[in-house]
Amino acid sequence: MTETQQTHISHADYMALVRALEFQIDAGVNVFLEAEPVNRFDHQPSTETVEPNLQSNSPITPPSDSAPVFEPQGQNDDKPLYELPEPRPVAPAVLRKNTTEAGDISAAESAALRADTLEALKQAMEAFEGCALKRAAKNTVFADGNPAAKIMLVGEAPGRDEDREGKPFIGRSGKLLDKMFAAIGLDRNDIYITNLVPWRPTGNRTPTPDETALCRPFLLRHIELVQPDILVLVGGVSAKEMLDSSLGITKLRGTWQDLNIKGRDIPALPILHPAYLLRNPARKAETWQDLCSLQKKLSHSPPAHAANNSANHIGGTD
Ligand code: URA
Repeated sequence: MTETQQTHISHADYMALVRALEFQIDAGVNVFLEAEPVNRFDHQPSTETVEPNLQSNSPITPPSDSAPVFEPQGQNDDKPLYELPEPRPVAPAVLRKNTTEAGDISAAESAALRADTLEALKQAMEAFEGCALKRAAKNTVFADGNPAAKIMLVGEAPGRDEDREGKPFIGRSGKLLDKMFAAIGLDRNDIYITNLVPWRPTGNRTPTPDETALCRPFLLRHIELVQPDILVLVGGVSAKEMLDSSLGITKLRGTWQDLNIKGRDIPALPILHPAYLLRNPARKAETWQDLCSLQKKLSHSPPAHAANNSANHIGGTD
C-alpha cells in the first residue's frame, strides 16, 4: 500500500483487531516475518504423531513446552517457519457413570429428556429444584453465543458476574476468553458457550463431583440439541469431568479426544482456563498453540450444519 492509500475500518473492527493482537502479543507472537500471511497449515508438520495406546494406562505425553521454532526466512524454504506440535490422540473418552449420591439424578434426566428444543431445556433447568446450588444462585446461567456455531465451549461454573447477569463468561475470564478467540478470528457469533453447572457455587468454589453429576443430564442434552462439530473443554474441571480423566489440565490441554455423547463422536479439545491464564500469563503461549490447533481442525470440518434446526435456537443469546 502506498503512503497515500488508506484503508477505512469501523471502530468496532479496529477494536476487535486490537483485542486479537493483544492476546497474540501476550502469547509471545511478537515476531513478524513477512508482509503477507502464509498458511502454515498447508505444510505437513514434521513432528511425529503418537498413535493412541488403547491398552495401556500410560500417561499422555504433553506437547513440548519448548518455544516455537522461528527460522530466518530463506534458510530452508520447505520448512514451515512455525511448527505446531501435532496434538496427541489418546484413548476415546467416556463420560463418567452417574452416581446416586448427588441427589435426584433421575429427575434431572427425565426433565432433560423431555426437552426437545434449547428453549425447552432452558425452561426445564430454570424449573428444576433438585440441585442445592440453585437455592443460592440469582440466575440459571444457560448459554451464550450462537447455537448454530460449529464450536461449543464447556466451562466450569458461573462466577459472580455471570450469576448476576445470567450469561456465561462475562467477567474478567470471559473478557480474556473473547480475546483468545479473537486471536483466531472468532467472536461469540462463531462459538456457543455453556458450563458444567448452570448455577454459581457460593464463593466461586469448584463444583463438587456430586453437583456436576446432578447437572450432567442437562449438559448432555444441551450438547445433543446443539450438535456441535467441536467441543472445547475450558479448564481442568471441565476436562476432567467430561473426559473422566485423572490427568491434570496441563497434560490434557491441546490433546484432541473423541468424546462420545449419546452415540455421536465429537472431537474435544481441552484448553487452559482463562482464569488460570490470568494468574499464569506465561502459559498463554501454550494456549496460542491450542487455538491454532483448533483453527486448523475448524478449517478441515465441513460447513456448519444447516442453520442447526431453527427450532433449536434459543431466544436471548445476544
Ligand atoms: N468461569 C467459568 O468456567 N465459567 C463462567 O461462566 C465464568 C467463569
